[in-house]
Amino acid sequence: MTDTPQRIAIIGGGLMGAGIAQVFAAAGHRVTVHEPVAEVRETVRARIAANLAALEQDPAPAENVAVAGELAAAVADAQFVFEAAPEKLPLKQSIFAALAKHAPPGAILASNTSVIPITDIVHGLETASRMAGTHWWNPPYLVPLVEVVQTAQTAPQTVAALMALLKAVGKAPVHVKKDVPGFVANRLQHALWREAIAIVAAGICDAETVDTCVKQSFGLRLPVLGPLENADLVGLDLTLDIHNVILPAIDNSPAPSPLLQELVEKGDLGFKTGKGFRAWSAEDMANLRARLTAHLKRALSGSETA
Ligand SMILES: NC(=O)c1ccc[n+]([C@@H]2O[C@H](COP(=O)([O-])OP(=O)(O)OC[C@H]3O[C@@H](n4cnc5c(N)ncnc54)[C@H](O)[C@@H]3O)[C@@H](O)[C@H]2O)c1
Repeated sequence: MTDTPQRIAIIGGGLMGAGIAQVFAAAGHRVTVHEPVAEVRETVRARIAANLAALEQDPAPAENVAVAGELAAAVADAQFVFEAAPEKLPLKQSIFAALAKHAPPGAILASNTSVIPITDIVHGLETASRMAGTHWWNPPYLVPLVEVVQTAQTAPQTVAALMALLKAVGKAPVHVKKDVPGFVANRLQHALWREAIAIVAAGICDAETVDTCVKQSFGLRLPVLGPLENADLVGLDLTLDIHNVILPAIDNSPAPSPLLQELVEKGDLGFKTGKGFRAWSAEDMANLRARLTAHLKRALSGSETA
């Protein structure tokens, strides 16, 4: 099935939608992007071509991406639909209700929501067995992981078809068996961010030191050594001894940090305003972005995705 070109529809031609379209178009699938905003529609192919060129890949597949202003036309013959519209529950519910109506019977319908439970998006739809989450990471054409999220109603065949399609286009799909907030990777990432913020709030060290601690120690090992591989490597007896001491000491608050709330109230939003946990000049921001892209390209050229 995944060896032959599939008809793929993408809902939303923004940052993620265009990037997801790029992955499928570059792999030879037939892609249609539905984007309601005319000015955005006009930029979809050019953005995909520019991304491909920046990756030193042939930009030609961008020209084969169809762009549609109407959802019904975009999904009329789709075998797979990936929704990447704004992160608002009522909007996503209305899109999935429209997909249930306009996509062919049998089409697989997936949402790229970052945090909204898939169950809430597809609630009450008869097509729920063909609906799942596919949580891509930005930029979708560089970051390998896609979390394939199964709800209580998602059929195993839906998960299997998504996993096979994503694997065939070079992604590293994983099966998330329960539709929990944050799926897997964001739960892990934000457990770390909560503690990072708590350390700064408690005056243990400044924000730059927190980042240095991560980047100059376990961050270096992470591409090869996941946390549970690491626990096995050092020994579960040692891990237990460490947890007995450290877990009572680290932050377990169920609410966002008061420090984070205070910064947001002051308008210190990070790159958006030039100041967040740290101060950012335009040059600092451009440098960090460029270093991140260069690092990802380098790391993925000899990639370890197992
Ligand atoms: N940006 C990220 O890093 C990231 C990562 C993973 C997941 N996501 C999720 O992907 C989704 C899209 O995020 P994004 O960053 O691409 O946002 P974006 O704002 O760049 O793109 C959203 C696009 O959807 C279009 N749109 C608006 N209403 C629509 C409708 N009714 N039907 C179809 N399209 C509509 C908008 O015009 C816009 O072009 C969100 O659910 C977001 O949470 C984002």
